[in-house]
Amino acid sequence: MSQEQTLERPGVAAEDRSHAEHRITFAPAGVTLDCAPGQSVLETALGAGFFPKHSCRRGECHACCAPVKSGSVSYPEGFEPEGVPEGHCLTCMARPEGDVVIEAPEVSAVPGRRVVQAGARVLSADRVSHDVTVVRLQVPPNAGFDFKAGQYCDVLLRDGTRRSYSMANAPDGSGTMEWHVRALPKGRFSTHVYQALKPRDMLRVEGPFGAFVLSEADKPVILLASGTGYAPIASLMKTHCQALQARGAVLYWGGRRREDLYAIDEAQKWDALAARLRFVPVLSEPDADWQGRSGFVHEAVVHDFPDMSGMEVYACGNPLMVDAARATFTREHALPDGSFFSDAFITAVTDPRPAT
Ligand SMILES: Cc1cc2nc3c(=O)[nH]c(=O)nc-3n(C[C@H](O)[C@H](O)[C@H](O)COP(=O)(O)OP(=O)(O)OC[C@H]3O[C@@H](n4cnc5c(N)ncnc54)[C@H](O)[C@@H]3O)c2cc1C
Ligand code: FES
Repeated sequence: MSQEQTLERPGVAAEDRSHAEHRITFAPAGVTLDCAPGQSVLETALGAGFFPKHSCRRGECHACCAPVKSGSVSYPEGFEPEGVPEGHCLTCMARPEGDVVIEAPEVSAVPGRRVVQAGARVLSADRVSHDVTVVRLQVPPNAGFDFKAGQYCDVLLRDGTRRSYSMANAPDGSGTMEWHVRALPKGRFSTHVYQALKPRDMLRVEGPFGAFVLSEADKPVILLASGTGYAPIASLMKTHCQALQARGAVLYWGGRRREDLYAIDEAQKWDALAARLRFVPVLSEPDADWQGRSGFVHEAVVHDFPDMSGMEVYACGNPLMVDAARATFTREHALPDGSFFSDAFITAVTDPRPAT
């Protein structure tokens, strides 16, 4: 099995235009890439090692919405970019119709590590609660795979579909990953993970993806997770402990019941590290003996921080929770739009249960 492959259709270096169709420039960095026929703006960027804002990569979360400074884009037949402001596009779905300039201040002039596809060996698969499995995987070191805290990776299934899982460990360049996979009722891959995945199994993976990474600002931070949304937050906590301590950070982790907070001991240890790191568990359906906070997790945040104008929020997990948090924090509690970072765990059919 090939251990290292870049994306099948990477962005074409600007100097080699032989197979190129249109040129994409990311402003203000001035990064210019040639876009292969049929490729989206985001695919082109990722294939060349640049990471504009994105999350779901399938037109649902709007994290990749960006202004089109010049030129025009089109979308695949049947896709309607609903709710996209005039003059903007969803880069994960948009195909340039000619040369385009996209505003993406987060794109730096120098590319990072490219997306790679590789075989990953399962090192362990441990059921840590009634529905969560912690999976540790090893990508061969020579595959060139690495990631930043907060990013995710895809697993490629035999039918050509893929699923995304956030890394929960701190990146160390060794090619190891830890995923927290919640088994969904009749969920194809997550049920397989819970019931059958075992050490030495092989998975085909591709990554890293995502832009849910800690900014370089010095504002105090709210980390907000529901369910396995804790995974990328744990990676941020482990990787950026010093920075979070300097900025001041509070982790709010919501579940329905106590057993949903499957790594509560780890979160409590993080809280105990320093006075400026705090952990607040929140349950929406607690047992009678629960001593902690109850209700919806994003409501606990605004109860404690009614003025969020000087903060940054990193929210991850159930899409309903992420949407409710964004709307409440930005519309009612003065959080600037650009200070809300999120990864919504969008599934084939979004979990209809209430956000916790
Ligand atoms: C950026 C990102 C990061 C993510 N990170 C994580 C993570 O760290 N941990 C994690 O647990 N998840 C994560 N997810 C979600 C994950 O990618 C999968 O979507 C999830 O595990 C479900 O996959 P599955 O194959 O088990 O379920 P699927 O088979 O895809 O089904 C999903 C749900 O839809 C239902 N369903 C499917 N088809 C139908 C239908 N036709 N009618 C009605 N219901 C249907 C299923 O019963 C199931 O409940 C992430 C998602 C994204 C986008
Ligand atoms: S809509 Fe483009 S990344 Fe989600």
